[in-house]
Amino acid sequence: MLDGKGFQGPIGVFDSGVGGLTVVRALRRELPAEDIIYLGDTARVPYGGKSPRTVERYALACQQFLLDREVALVLVACNTVSATALPALAEASPVPVIGAVEPGAQVAVATTRNRHIGVIGTLATVRSGAYVRAITALEPTAKVSSLACPLLVPLAEEGWVDDEIASMVARRYLTQLFAADRELDTLVLGCTHYPLLGETLHRVATEVAGHPVAIVDSAVAMANAARRELARGRAAGSLPARGPAGPGRLDCYATDTSRLEELAPRFLGEAPSGFALVDL
Ligand code: DGL
Repeated sequence: MLDGKGFQGPIGVFDSGVGGLTVVRALRRELPAEDIIYLGDTARVPYGGKSPRTVERYALACQQFLLDREVALVLVACNTVSATALPALAEASPVPVIGAVEPGAQVAVATTRNRHIGVIGTLATVRSGAYVRAITALEPTAKVSSLACPLLVPLAEEGWVDDEIASMVARRYLTQLFAADRELDTLVLGCTHYPLLGETLHRVATEVAGHPVAIVDSAVAMANAARRELARGRAAGSLPARGPAGPGRLDCYATDTSRLEELAPRFLGEAPSGFALVDL
């Protein structure tokens, strides 16, 4: 993946909106010394119900914004973009591009004990079949069941993540998912927003299944994939070793700033120092 591609600058992360800050949160925990540039396409969110063609067009513009800032690596935090537009993004980028699907699929295959895996995400992610392809490419005998759970995105944004409404919505979706396969033992959170509902989803999934269900957080899986990619680049000498360890910078950009002050800390787990408004 590194052939002819060298690392120089910060890690670039983009998402359809603020949800990708769950990936930045995991990155800052895993790689606290790295500089990060984040772009949220908040003027055009949500991507999850849009056609692959539109998602790809928006995503290429987001990626170009980061490439213009000379990022070393692009992290496609948005599962919808990762599932529908990754080949086009990789082709257009001179630096490595990491999506959410492959790292999430790898962790799911490593986690399951019985090879019955569930995936939840946006409509576009589920329709793309990307997780099913990625998981079965790694483990051809895996049985993968997926379900679009569109109501979970607004619930996470509203901050209703651990109350009775969140539990009711989770139960309705997960009952449908487990009806397709009672034996699911691993559930992939295939959407930037779902880690906020992680505890509720874990509890309800285990209740509905009647047996323990492991949760795979694709944000954490991506941060680990970025760590491996950086280590590979440094070992290969295509990435300069970092200077003395210190907290990395986080520069945030958005295409609309409405509600950012309220929403961003929910996903990032801290208040960002601010968002610069940009037009793509
Ligand atoms: N970021 C999207 C994802 O991970 C969720 C929000 C949206 O629909 O744009 O799929």
